[in-house]
Formats: sequence, C-alpha cells, structure tokens
Amino acid sequence: MSYDYKNAHSLADKKVIVTGAGGNLGAEICRGLTAMGASVLATDISADKGMALVEELTAAGANASFLRHDVTNEEQWEAVVATAIDKMGGLNGVVNNAAIVPMQYLADLDVEEFKQVQNVNVAGSMLGCKHGFRAMRPEGSAGGGGSIINMSSVMGLAGTIALASYNSSKGAVRLLTKSVAAECAMLKTGIRCNSIHPGIVESEMGSLFHEQLVDLGVAPDMAASEAGFLAGVPMGEAANVTDIANGAIYLISDASRYVTGTELVIDGGFYAT
Ligand SMILES: NC(=O)c1ccc[n+]([C@@H]2O[C@H](COP(=O)([O-])OP(=O)(O)OC[C@H]3O[C@@H](n4cnc5c(N)ncnc54)[C@H](O)[C@@H]3O)[C@@H](O)[C@H]2O)c1
Repeated sequence: MSYDYKNAHSLADKKVIVTGAGGNLGAEICRGLTAMGASVLATDISADKGMALVEELTAAGANASFLRHDVTNEEQWEAVVATAIDKMGGLNGVVNNAAIVPMQYLADLDVEEFKQVQNVNVAGSMLGCKHGFRAMRPEGSAGGGGSIINMSSVMGLAGTIALASYNSSKGAVRLLTKSVAAECAMLKTGIRCNSIHPGIVESEMGSLFHEQLVDLGVAPDMAASEAGFLAGVPMGEAANVTDIANGAIYLISDASRYVTGTELVIDGGFYAT
C-alpha cells in the first residue's frame, strides 16, 4: 500500500501541552493544533487570556482545557503533566512557548533581570523537556514517545543591540533542543525535539520589541523601527501568527517523524542573508 500522506499530517491522536498559550503565538498554535484534530492543554501564568482562548476553542468543538502555570515552577510542571494525561487520556506533545523579552543596553543590564530571562526562557523550557520526557518515554505515565517543540527565535541565531538577555536565552534554547533531541534518540525513547525560530511576527511581542527599541533611543519611532527591521527581511513583511502555527503543526505531526534536533526558521529569509 502506498504511503498515507494525509494521515501523516493528521493530528487526530495528538495530545499536546502548550505553554504561554495566552499570548499571540501560543494561542494561534493552540488554534492550529486543535483545527488539525489535536487535544490541547493550554497553560499560562496569566489566567484571563488562557481561559478566554479555551472558551473559544471548546465553542468551536475542540478538546481543550486551561491550567494556570508558571513554567519556572517544577512542582507546577508535575501537576500540568498529570492534568494533561488525566484530561486528554495521554500525552505526546509539548510546546515550550512561554517567554519574556525585556530589552536593555549592556551597560545598564541588571544581573537579576538577566537571570529572570534565563529562568523563564531557558529553565522553563528545560523543565518542559524534562517532564515531557519523563511522561512520554516508554516507561513513563503516558509512554509511546512524542514531539517536543522549543520556541526559540532568529534572535537565538544572531545577536542585536540591547538584547543580551533574550539573545543568550534563545541561543541556549537552540542548543537545549539539540541536547534533548540527541539524548531522546540515543535512549530510543521515540521522543523528538526541535526548535522553531520565528522572525518578527505581527503580534504584541513584535510591537513590544519595536516599542523598546524606541524607548532606548535605538530608533526614533515605531514606524522607523519596523521599517528598519523589514529592510532586512527579503520577503519584506513580518510573519503572521499562522505561519508559525503551521510550523508547529508539522513538527507535532507524524509527517516529521524523522526530524529531530533541527531548527525550523520561519522568518521570510531574514537569517538567510
Ligand atoms: N512575537 C514575535 O515577534 C516573536 C518572534 C520570535 C520568537 N518569538 C517567541 O515566540 C514565543 C511566543 O511569543 P508571543 O509573541 O506569543 O509572546 P507573548 O508575550 O504574546 O506571549 C508569551 C506568553 O508567555 C506567558 N508567560 C510569561 N512568563 C511566563 C511564565 N513564567 N510562565 C508561564 N507563562 C509565562 C505570558 O503570560 C504570555 O501569555 C516566545 O517564546 C517568543 O520568544 C516571538
């Protein structure tokens, strides 16, 4: 029988945790995954947006629920994984998407703020990998393997002004991903791990990025900041949130079954030039 391409892209049997799901990208990833048939446990430190999202998804017929969750808290990760398995009947996907992006010149960078960015963006992702791994490995409470996605950024591939905390955190997420991918594969767990690297996305975080550049005096105003960034994007436009969600759909699906430790760059060619 010939290969069933359509079924390989279906997410009908996928049960996925998405962190930072109250934000623009996390919410759209949840919309995309559930539209393709997955069940989702959406988590966020902020309950309002996460609960509104889950109301929207369930009204559309999706199997979705919300849990308030600080990704830096290991006990809460244990509860999130247990709840996911309880509510969805299993677990075979984790999207470590929650992050913060404060900008500051190096000369003024406060070490506690730097550590906080590493804590949320790197340690939060590591904990998601760890607890996803423990549950999805063959002897785990979910068993059966799965797919872990760590949200990095083009800012995890190259540096820029006033972004030492975020650049270093997203670079760490990039290599965390490769380490997890190698270990999962060599231990024959059936778990894959990949990173997604968006460029600038039409989103609140994208706007915040430009606002901070203006506040720091790097750009005179929002329009100049946006134009300056877009000048470096060969396709000449920012990404839509759906562009990033499509990447997550692929990496969660069985269509990517041989893809692990890779970097999916979704940036309109920004990093290619
Ligand atoms: N928007 C962009 O332009 C862009 C570009 C490249 C990469 N990214 C990455 O994509 C991901 C999502 O970005 P976004 O645009 O949706 O950002 P966002 O700020 O809209 O969403 C981030 C979410 O994470 C949550 N969060 C923050 N700290 C948390 C914590 N300790 N525990 C749990 N949740 C926490 C926030 O409440 C928020 O809902 C991030 O990893 C970001 O770095 C975004």
